[in-house]
Amino acid sequence: MAAYEFTDHEYDVVVVGAGGAGLRATLGMAEQGLKTACVTKVFPTRSHTVAAQGGIAASLANMGPDNWKWHMYDTVKGSDWLGDMDAQEYLVRHAPEAVYELEHYGVPFSRTEEGKIYQRPFGGHTTEYGEGPPVQRTCAAADRTGHAMLHTLYGQSLKHNAEFYIEYFAIDLLRGADGAIQGILAWKLDDGTLHRFNAKMTVLATGGYGRAYFSCTSAHTCTGDGGGMVARQGLPLQDMEFVQFHPTGIYGAGMLITEGARGEGGYLTNSEGERYMERYAPTYKDLASRDVVSRCSTIEIREGRGVGPNKDHVFLHLDHLPPEALAERLPGISESAKIFAGVDVTKEPIPVLPTVHYNMGGIPTNYWGEALNPTADNHDAIQPGLMAVGEAGCASVHGANRLGSNSLIDLVVFGRAAAIKAGEIIDPEAKNQDFDPASVEAALERFDTMRHARGGTPTADLRLKMQKAMQNDAAVFRTSESLKEGVDKMAAVASEMSDISVSDRSMVWNSDLMETLELVNLMPNALTTIVSAEARKESRGAHAHEDFPDRDDKNWRKHSLATVGDDWEVKLSYRDVHVKPLTPESEGGIELKRLAPKKRVY
Ligand code: FUM
Repeated sequence: MAAYEFTDHEYDVVVVGAGGAGLRATLGMAEQGLKTACVTKVFPTRSHTVAAQGGIAASLANMGPDNWKWHMYDTVKGSDWLGDMDAQEYLVRHAPEAVYELEHYGVPFSRTEEGKIYQRPFGGHTTEYGEGPPVQRTCAAADRTGHAMLHTLYGQSLKHNAEFYIEYFAIDLLRGADGAIQGILAWKLDDGTLHRFNAKMTVLATGGYGRAYFSCTSAHTCTGDGGGMVARQGLPLQDMEFVQFHPTGIYGAGMLITEGARGEGGYLTNSEGERYMERYAPTYKDLASRDVVSRCSTIEIREGRGVGPNKDHVFLHLDHLPPEALAERLPGISESAKIFAGVDVTKEPIPVLPTVHYNMGGIPTNYWGEALNPTADNHDAIQPGLMAVGEAGCASVHGANRLGSNSLIDLVVFGRAAAIKAGEIIDPEAKNQDFDPASVEAALERFDTMRHARGGTPTADLRLKMQKAMQNDAAVFRTSESLKEGVDKMAAVASEMSDISVSDRSMVWNSDLMETLELVNLMPNALTTIVSAEARKESRGAHAHEDFPDRDDKNWRKHSLATVGDDWEVKLSYRDVHVKPLTPESEGGIELKRLAPKKRVY
C-alpha cells in the first residue's frame, strides 16, 4: 500500500452532507455551541435538495381548515401502515414550528393576499381523515422551495460558525477504541490530501441512491454514500425495497416536473385524451398518492394507451391554466419543460413518465436521528456515535410510500431533532476517544485498493449494467420472475466489482476514482433493494408485486433489515413496526381507530 499522511481534525460533531437535512442538523448543532464540521462532496447550495420544487408540508391552515391529526392520518395511510407512528406523530406535530423557523431564518416563501405563507394541494394530503376535499398543506416558494431553503440554511449555518469542508469525499466511517463510531476518513478532492475527522457524533446526511437506477430525478451525486459506509460497518439498511417513482419525470430526460403542477390544476391524459386518473381514483383523481398515480400511468402505457410514436409515456396538461398563474407559481418547471422537452407549457402538454425519485428505505433510526443496530432482543438498540437524517435515514415516517412534500419537512424536523438530541448527549468538555488503528487501516486499505484497481471492467460499464438491472427488475410493477432475475443479475454485477478498472492513479481531482468509490457505495444499496424486494411476498406502497397483489398485514407488517457481507451476500432479518403514536388518545392524541389499517383507496 502507498504511504499516506493525514490532516487531523477534532470536533464534537461531524455532519456528512450539506443538503436540507445536513444543513439543518449543522445549524442546530452549531447554534447550541457544539463544535461542528460539515463535510460535503459538493458546494452546499448545489446539494440535491436544490432540485426540490413543490414545497414542504405543514398543517398551518393558511388556506382553509387543517390540523396535525389530519396530516398524521394522511401520512400513516400514505405509508401503507408501514411507518413508525411515534416518528410520524413527531414529524407532523413539529412541522408547523419547523416551517415558521425557516420563515424567520429568511426562506422567501410565496405569499397569500394577506401575506401568509402560500400553501398548495399535493397528492394524498386531505381533510377530514381522507373523507373531505384535498387540503392546501404544502408551503411553497414558487416551484423552487428546496433552492430557497438551502441558501437560507447555509447562510444561517455560517452565521453560527459551523465550519464547512467543501468538496471533501467521505471515504469511510471510523471507529473508536470502544467500538463506537468516532468520525470519518475523507479525501480532499482539489489537493488530494486525506483528512481524519474525529467526532463524538457523526451524522450521515448523504441523501438517497437514485443513481442505482438508469432513469431518475436525482442528481448524479445521489449515490447512497451513507448507506454504503454503514453497510461496510456491518450495520443494517432498512426497508430498501420501497423505491418511489414520481409520476411526472420528463420523458427521456428524467427531470422532475413537480406534483405542484397537478396541485395547481394540471392533469394527466392518455392517447385517447382521457383524464384517466378519474377512472382509477374517483375522489382525489390526479391528487391521489404518488405510488397510485405512477401505477395508473404504467397500466395505461402497458395497455396500449400511451402517447408518442412508441406509445411509451403520457401527457401532463398545464395548457388550460392562465399563463400568469404558471409564471407566478410554476416558473421553474415552465423553463425545464422548454429546455428538456421543447414544450411551451402554456400551449402544449408535457411528455412525462414515472421516474425513480426517492428512497423510503435507508439507515434505520429512531425519531431523534440516532442510528439503530437492532438485536434479536432489542429491535431499537442504538449504535453509539452515529446518526442519520434526511433521505439517507429511515426514521421511518414514510414507511412503504412517501407523500409528496413530506420529504422537505422530514429534512428539517429530523435535522433539528438530531441537533436537540446531540445537545443532550454530547459533553463538549469531554475528551474525544482515539481512533481504533485497525479501523483507520481498513478504510485506507480499501481506498488504496480502489485507487490501484487494475481489472478489465471500466466503472462506467459496470454502473450501467447495475442501472439497467435495477430499472428493469425493481420497477413500478414487480413479479416473482422479474425479482428473481434481478437478484441474479445484481449478484453477477457485484461479482464483477473485483474486476474494476481505474486508470487515473492521481489524488487530485481524480473523478475516475471518485466515481468508482461512488459505485462501491451504490452497490450495497442496490443489492439490498432487490433482495429485500424479492423476499417481500405482498404488495404495499411502492412495492407492487403482481404475484401477491394484496397487502398482507399478518405476515408482512414489519420492517426489512438487510446487511451485506464482504462477498456481497445480503442477509435479511425483520424489525417490528412501532404502532403506537407518541401521545395517548386519552391525553389529546389522535384517536387510535383512525390509525387502524384498512384498504387504501383515494
Ligand atoms: O413533486 C415535487 O415537487 C416533489 C416533492 C417531493 O418529492 O416531496
